[in-house]
Amino acid sequence: MAYHISRAAEREWIDVKDVPGLRQALMVGEVHGSHHMEISLYELAPGATLGWNRCPFEESWFVTGGNGRAALAGLEYDLGAGDYGVAPVGMPHSLSAGDQGLSWFSVRAPKPPTFDGARSHISAEPLSGEYLGRPSENDPRHRFVGHYSESTDVVPFGDLSMPGYHGPNIKNIGIRMMVDQLLGAQHHTTFIASIAGRSGPGRAAKVHYHPFEEIYYFIGGGMRGWIDGNEEVTQTGDLVWVSTDGTHGFVNERDEPARWIEVQSPVPPTSDAFFFPDDWRSLPEAGETR
Ligand SMILES: [Fe+2]
Repeated sequence: MAYHISRAAEREWIDVKDVPGLRQALMVGEVHGSHHMEISLYELAPGATLGWNRCPFEESWFVTGGNGRAALAGLEYDLGAGDYGVAPVGMPHSLSAGDQGLSWFSVRAPKPPTFDGARSHISAEPLSGEYLGRPSENDPRHRFVGHYSESTDVVPFGDLSMPGYHGPNIKNIGIRMMVDQLLGAQHHTTFIASIAGRSGPGRAAKVHYHPFEEIYYFIGGGMRGWIDGNEEVTQTGDLVWVSTDGTHGFVNERDEPARWIEVQSPVPPTSDAFFFPDDWRSLPEAGETR
């Protein structure tokens, strides 16, 4: 299977073993065929903590609700909705919930290892750090964190322009990068994407594929998509995962913009990151003129 859809209405939550107060809804992982990412929603009860860990993968978070505290690299941050951050491979880090509890969208990349004797978390000694308040890209002391504001981080819609692709085949889209190599990630990128309302066929994302896995987690609106040739309609709260050989394209038929969190892993190459089957099918063979 080259794709998987985690529907908001069918999502299952489990209590995480050995971490009191932590609940997980796995949306995509090895069980769905992914080699490069594990994507979950987590909820941590008020006052609970994950403790200090180092991991053989990088781990990023995007806070969806509540309050809490993140600590890594000798720095401590308060957390609230819209804050994001990444713990690079092997870096001790800690997340704790405040009095409202803490909810976040989580990425682990590559997916946690499962070979015989593999370990996903190695406990680490607590490290006190400099307290810096809420994450901000404007403060040069801040590392591995940032903040996305729905009201002020409005990106104009246009043709897609990001590392690996500046072409015209994905239109009416706005991208706001969050977790990337600038932030300290090497194995995945996470960004907010939005496609303008009434972006029908030829005005949104043409069918394409790429040499990395990708998810779309819809946080506003929804889309009509063609995934491996199947028509799929998604609503807010749904997540779509596509594998490296999965073709996908979509349109936004609604009046309002569609918004989603997008994750790509491995990090896309710096050029030739997108392939559009129609472009390749239309090329002439030797001696043929079209
Ligand atoms: Fe894609």
